[in-house]
Amino acid sequence: MSIIAPVTASNVGSIPSSIPHPESATISIFGASGDLTARKLLPALFDLWSDGYLTDEAPIVGVARREKSDESFRNEIYEAINGNVRAGQVSQEKWGQFAKRLYYRQLDIAAPDGYPAFRQQLEAIEKQQGTEHNRVFYMATSPDLFLPAVENLGFGGLIPDRDAAHTMRVVFEKPFGRDLTSAQELSGNLRRLLREEQIYRIDHYLGKETVQNILLFRFGNSIFEPLLNRNHVDHVQITVAESQGLERGRGGYYDHSGAMRDVLQNHVLQLLSLIAMEPPAQFNARDLHDEKLKVLKALAPGNKGDISSWAIPGQYSAGLVDSQPAISYLSEERIPADSRTETYVAMKVLVDNWRWAGVPFYLRTGKRLPSRVSEIAIQFKQPPLNLFNTVECEGDVCELVGNRPNKLVFRIQPSESIKLSFSTKRPGMQYQIHPVTMDFNYKEAFHQALPEAYERLLLDVLRGDSTLFMRSDELEAAWQFVTPVLEYWEHNKVTPEPYRAGTWGPRVADTMMISDGRAWRTPLT
Ligand code: BG6
Repeated sequence: MSIIAPVTASNVGSIPSSIPHPESATISIFGASGDLTARKLLPALFDLWSDGYLTDEAPIVGVARREKSDESFRNEIYEAINGNVRAGQVSQEKWGQFAKRLYYRQLDIAAPDGYPAFRQQLEAIEKQQGTEHNRVFYMATSPDLFLPAVENLGFGGLIPDRDAAHTMRVVFEKPFGRDLTSAQELSGNLRRLLREEQIYRIDHYLGKETVQNILLFRFGNSIFEPLLNRNHVDHVQITVAESQGLERGRGGYYDHSGAMRDVLQNHVLQLLSLIAMEPPAQFNARDLHDEKLKVLKALAPGNKGDISSWAIPGQYSAGLVDSQPAISYLSEERIPADSRTETYVAMKVLVDNWRWAGVPFYLRTGKRLPSRVSEIAIQFKQPPLNLFNTVECEGDVCELVGNRPNKLVFRIQPSESIKLSFSTKRPGMQYQIHPVTMDFNYKEAFHQALPEAYERLLLDVLRGDSTLFMRSDELEAAWQFVTPVLEYWEHNKVTPEPYRAGTWGPRVADTMMISDGRAWRTPLT
């Protein structure tokens, strides 16, 4: 039973959460020579199996163009997953048990001809493993292969009829489209071949434990939810910051994409929809998607002026990150010297609905910022009267500071936590306020490693639970909002604002806040 599946009288307690329910299907990973397979997918599958969530037999088949034996695929993966699994290293013995179901099949994914033979190969593997023909195809390929691959699966007879006894699901990595039109086109074309419930569009942020906790925190408690609206909230800041620049070999993809398409359109807007959505009538995939969709449809520009007054692209120049010299974006491998791709974006947006009207949501994401941190900070309004002085003290030395508003901060990574800041009386003979925080920290509270996002998501695909995936209308609503911004930058040949690597982004982004009488918070504080 999925932790977030609806709990009904009939299923509550049917599977104790301490006893995993092993799932079984043949998982074919298309694009198996890529980084994602080695660094994320196979480690996640290994950990799922170690925890008893995956059967011993369920075949995992790496699929790519290059000729390779099962043996050399297994060796390659063994090298790659060591250090990437939860336990750190994998013993030869454990690896031997796991790797028995690991296969590799060579296939030109774009060419239909190979698929009938591929189908036979899968059947042979399933026979050898003694498993059924339930199948998951994971598209870890470049996005231009998504549609051809599914068409070819159809050609090879690998898409079962609606009433077939066996299940077939297809997982798509991002990016799913590069603007509204292309996303609609892709969804439309896939819909001719697959049913929506067979399509799983991944946003790995939704698999993060702390992101799921936003929902449980909001709708599992009664004391915070009444405050989350325009009457009490001054503004919300959502930050997805990275200190790294471009990983090796990623320049080609990234320069074609940029921070808006790579992170803001998906991860940041998903975080926004979770923090802003109304409670669903029931905790099931459809109701959740419906509520998230309403938020995405209510998105509106943060200012009345032109787009540049509420959406700011930036690009890093050379600087220092963690005291180490970092080169400029334009000097990175495979980046054209005149690239106008944004490596940072800041936006002020509104959620134009009854709950949030007039409350700005400030969003920012970027590469080569001072640290890797993702968080949502809700800043509440000040009390109506300022009756006391607020001081901040170090030892006996106190400084008079401005009123500190209450804040609720969800730290998604690193050191996952929820922090509430409020005012308290400083001990002594005067009425002085001292700002303090109440912290809930995952590691301290639960003493266990959090599962990786891909573990949860892969398990949900096997279970047929699409709650943590993006439905096509949600994805299109997100594209609908960001596409005019992308077009504005493109048509006007907007040059991104420079910011030094190791700083919190361009000055113009600070100015946008200052003109609203606000400031970006320093994350991790
Ligand atoms: C991916 C982006 O979706 O998310 C990357 O393509 C980015 O560019 C990554 O680095 C960030 O994910 P996380 O989990 O490290 O915050």
